[in-house]
Amino acid sequence: MMEERELIALAKKAKENAYAPYSGFRVGAALITKEGEIFSGCNVENVSFSLTNCAERTAVFSAVAAGYRDFVALAVTSDSEKFTFPCGACRQVLIEFNPDMKIIMGNINDEYMIEKVSNLLPCFFHEESLGKPKGGKND
Ligand code: THU
Repeated sequence: MMEERELIALAKKAKENAYAPYSGFRVGAALITKEGEIFSGCNVENVSFSLTNCAERTAVFSAVAAGYRDFVALAVTSDSEKFTFPCGACRQVLIEFNPDMKIIMGNINDEYMIEKVSNLLPCFFHEESLGKPKGGKND
C-alpha cells in the first residue's frame, strides 16, 4: 500500500484547490481504495455557511460517484500547525464504508498521526441501529 507520506502529499496538493473565502482555512484530503485508486478533495464553502462541504466528504463522494466503496486510508491536512482531525459529520461518513479505515491527520510541517476511524468515533450510529434487516447499501 502507498506510503502514508505519499497520501499526505496528495492531500496537501488537493488543499491548493480549496474554496474557503469565508474561513480562510484550506483543507485537502486524499483517499486510497482497495484497488489502489486515489481520490482527493478539498473544502468547498458557500455564502450560506452551513452548505459547506469538508475536504474529506468531497473525496469520499467523488470516489463513490466513480464506483468505488472499499476505502483503505484517508489523509487530511490543512495550513495549521496542529493536526487536522475530521469533523464529526465526516467521521460518520467515513465510518459508513470501513470502520477500520486508517485516518492520517497531518499538519503544515508534514508531520502526521494515524488513527482508525472507529477509534475516532466510538459507539457510532450504524446499520443495525436502524433496527431493520440489512439491505439498501448496495441497492
Ligand atoms: N473543514 C474540512 O474541510 N475538514 C475538516 O476536517 C475540518 C473542517 C473545513 C470546513 C470549513 O470550510 C473550514 O474547514 C473551517 O471549518
